[in-house]
Amino acid sequence: MRDHRYDVLFEPVRIGPVTARNRFFQVPHCNGMGHRHPSSLAEMRGVKAEGGWAVVCTEEVEIHHTSALDGAVEGRLWDDMDIPAHRLTVERVHAHGGLAGIELVHSGLNAPNTYSRVPALGPSVRPVTSGTPSVGREMTLADIADLREWHRAAVRRSLRAGYDVVYVYAAHGLTVFQQFLSPRFNSRTDEYGGSLENRVRLLREVLEDTLDLCAGRAAVACRIVVDELLGVDGQGRAVGLGRSEMEEVFGLIGELPDLWDLMVGEWDFDSSTSRFEQEGYSEPFVHGFKQLTTKPVVIVGRYTSPDTMVRLVNQGITDFIGAARPSIADPFLPNKIAEGRVEDIRECIGCNICVSGDWLSVPIRCTQNASMGEEWRRGWHPERIAPKPADAADAKVLIIGAGPAGLEAAMWLGRRGYEVVLTEASRTLGGRVVREAALPGLAEWGRVRDHRVLQLEKLDNVLVTLESPMTAEEIVEYDFTHVAVATGATWRVDGLGRFHAAGVFTGALTPDDLLAGLRPSGNRVVVYDDELFYIGGVLAEMLATEGFQVTIVTPESKVSAWTVNTMEQHKIHRRLVAAGVTILTDTTVLGHEGNVARLACTYTGREHSLASDAIVSITFREPHAPLVGQLQSLGSQHVQAIGDAYNPGTIAEAVYSGRLYAEALQAPDLGVGATPFRREIIGLAGR
Ligand SMILES: Cc1cc2nc3c(=O)[nH]c(=O)nc-3n(C[C@H](O)[C@H](O)[C@H](O)COP(=O)(O)O)c2cc1C
Ligand code: SF4
Repeated sequence: MRDHRYDVLFEPVRIGPVTARNRFFQVPHCNGMGHRHPSSLAEMRGVKAEGGWAVVCTEEVEIHHTSALDGAVEGRLWDDMDIPAHRLTVERVHAHGGLAGIELVHSGLNAPNTYSRVPALGPSVRPVTSGTPSVGREMTLADIADLREWHRAAVRRSLRAGYDVVYVYAAHGLTVFQQFLSPRFNSRTDEYGGSLENRVRLLREVLEDTLDLCAGRAAVACRIVVDELLGVDGQGRAVGLGRSEMEEVFGLIGELPDLWDLMVGEWDFDSSTSRFEQEGYSEPFVHGFKQLTTKPVVIVGRYTSPDTMVRLVNQGITDFIGAARPSIADPFLPNKIAEGRVEDIRECIGCNICVSGDWLSVPIRCTQNASMGEEWRRGWHPERIAPKPADAADAKVLIIGAGPAGLEAAMWLGRRGYEVVLTEASRTLGGRVVREAALPGLAEWGRVRDHRVLQLEKLDNVLVTLESPMTAEEIVEYDFTHVAVATGATWRVDGLGRFHAAGVFTGALTPDDLLAGLRPSGNRVVVYDDELFYIGGVLAEMLATEGFQVTIVTPESKVSAWTVNTMEQHKIHRRLVAAGVTILTDTTVLGHEGNVARLACTYTGREHSLASDAIVSITFREPHAPLVGQLQSLGSQHVQAIGDAYNPGTIAEAVYSGRLYAEALQAPDLGVGATPFRREIIGLAGR
């Protein structure tokens, strides 16, 4: 039964000619599947609708080859050939009672166009913003007329595909309509530049075009930046669009679209991680915009708390609860609130592993929801799993180690109906997640443990034991038919890693030591980070805030280099500088003797030394699963390492490994060499 406090979230809301069944709105989010994996994409969106989201949107969908976001795999609607793939998505969303929204994009100066090999287009001559060393062309009035026709054509195709909501996209600094609006990109002197009325002209015209075409058939939404957060330049001039100017924009076109989708800053702020922002971080910026229009408004801010959602609606801050990541981590979030199962919500931890899939152009993945991106490919579901086979009545599974992989495996095996024992040698469940959640900014990562522990409590067929280290001899005494070893991994201590092919120092501390509470002797510490993800930066920050004098040394040209894929790298650098950490990039550590670290430039090999009392070695973790070999030598048949114990990696990979183990247990053998998931092959065009 639903808690009546949440009733307001389930009120239907009209958006122009269509009605959303409730206030849960999956805002556009890309997913690395886009035009390349249409069946995977459609099934993923369908599952969101099944989970109760009233509106389920696409990612940004390129409307024309002059807006080719090559590298990334976005949606595409360049011509009629793209329509069938979109129909598939619409069908899946409609099948579960949702409204399907499409976010049309012309990326303007952000389009690298390296595939289509045409110049980027923009309001004025400016460098292309997506990293290619090219310059965009200033659009002529004829180009602007063409752009409007391309957009109209895409709207017609969207309607033919069956979409219920069609977006005009002017946000994230990524689209031509925002570029015309913003003085940062627009220095035109004709009727499309200069005054705000002129800069808003193109957006107004395209909104009017879209409304004309959609008339009565689909709603028109506008995603808009309400503050570019760019501040002022050295002369005190506003660099981009600030709040007051955007309020004026609402004065000019506030009543045009059927819905306003409000966002703030660029993508890295909009999708901030929990390390840098808490739930609701956009609220102060979007506050008050709803009062500037009579049209419904949607806002975002990693919202997972239904109480916060109710407050946002009741205080008149928004009509819809927009969500990308909360809907990725838990596609069934709305249904869980509706069914009075709030405690079952699998809350997003704000790690942006989902975002990394987009940057790496691979199907989306999620730390909390291992089924994300696997709905069609492997047939996984965020809430359901096939029961154990009928002939598996006697099967009993022992899982050793209750880190992310062990917890995930136990939960899904329990749901399959297996009798499961999950043993943990320490006093706490969660493994590395518990330890890392104690680091600065990572508290929300504890949700990986919390969700699974709560679910396990609901499963009578899963027994969880703490402080129960087991030897191989003890294990074989019991009658387990299957044993999963999820005993984690240990950090290497000697500097061997990507850069060094052999160990280079002794006596170093590792992240394991620091997480266990050990601290360097002496005050000057070198943190050698050749792992490149978050742990080096986080530990350097922690030590600095504890009063150590920290130098972080990395062979890469950026600190915490891989975090560009979670859009945190620049924030980490900034935070380390603020904490007083010295950052040495393109540098490696050759040795650490006495109170001296020997360093070398990775390009020239030129050596220098640094006074240092201690070194922390962060290169990689090695699997820790001695039980596997021991059990096999005692004759155990079905023993398998999972998670970090098999293949150390991200927490997302460990969770995925746990799910994979649970899905695959006693599943039919696919045969040697078989690809274990469905693939979609691009059709040949013919000659
Ligand atoms: C993986 C991912 C991809 C995204 N892609 C898009 C996109 O294609 N278009 C867009 O307007 N916003 C995109 N966003 C931004 C989201 O729509 C949203 O505004 C932002 O993530 C904040 O909402 P959240 O905290 O609920 O995730 C993306 C976000 C994520 C996490
Ligand atoms: S990957 Fe992380 S940030 Fe993205 S939805 Fe999942 S838990 Fe949230």
